[in-house]
Amino acid sequence: MPPSPRVALVTGGIGGIGSAICLQLARQGCRVIAADLVHDAARAEAFGVAMQGQPVETVALDVGDYDACAAVVQDVQARHGALDILVNAAGITRDGTLRKMQRAQWDDVIRVNLDSVFNLCRHAVEGMVGRGFGRIVNISSVNGQTGQFGQTNYAAAKAGMHGFTMALAREVARKGVTVNSIAPGYIDTPLVQAMPDAVRADIVATIPVGRTGVPDDIARTVAFLVADDAGYITGANLPVNGGLFMSF
Ligand code: CAA
Repeated sequence: MPPSPRVALVTGGIGGIGSAICLQLARQGCRVIAADLVHDAARAEAFGVAMQGQPVETVALDVGDYDACAAVVQDVQARHGALDILVNAAGITRDGTLRKMQRAQWDDVIRVNLDSVFNLCRHAVEGMVGRGFGRIVNISSVNGQTGQFGQTNYAAAKAGMHGFTMALAREVARKGVTVNSIAPGYIDTPLVQAMPDAVRADIVATIPVGRTGVPDDIARTVAFLVADDAGYITGANLPVNGGLFMSF
């Protein structure tokens, strides 16, 4: 009997980076569920086209809602028998200098980018530990490593994701579950396209590779980290940034 496919839940799954991750995992034979907030017909149709015939399920989810996250995890486990792979890719920006930042800009970014990681992992990790296998990947950002002008909220959330990653990685390391983060640089998605043109151009000029990245650059890194034979990589933060920030 062939092994059953790994079941993967990708938050922000209909978004720029998220949809590339869904496609990559589906092509590798995973059963993929894309969770995303906006779930209108036009977006769903565009997503279907982007999946190029791969049978990726979609589910509406506000990742900041703790109980809704519990319900989605339970539903996936009940219908598919397991949740093996969790990719936390939901993310938003509400940029502004701290001196002008409204409380809502802070709260929204922390809720969607960081609370979401707790909400999903809290419910998903139990089953992974019980089954002795799990792969969690948190999509962070280079701006969580370096800070960025106008992003105290986003940089705090993204740096927080990695602290969370390292702590949870330690807690479940002996249970067959790995927890890693990826720190993308500037990837060509609506989030980056929404930046003021001059600011984006200045940043792109400093990228050693000389261009923004593409969502596939992140998707293939996710695929690498969630593979069955990647069990010795845990608590890591993989930069995928065209050389924008190098450290050791
Ligand atoms: N470094 C230093 N100074 C800067 C600066 C920077 N990066 N950007 C702007 N400034 C300076 C300006 O030159 C200006 O100086 P003066 O007052 O002396 O003229 C001052 O700061 C105010 O700048 P703005 O007019 O731009 O201020 P604003 O309040 O209108 O806008 C902002 C501030 C919203 C933060 C705007 O600059 C902006 O959107 N910046 C982009 C922030 C950014 O990089 N976001 C990344 C989004 S992509 C992403 O997040 C994905 C990922 O993970 C990589």
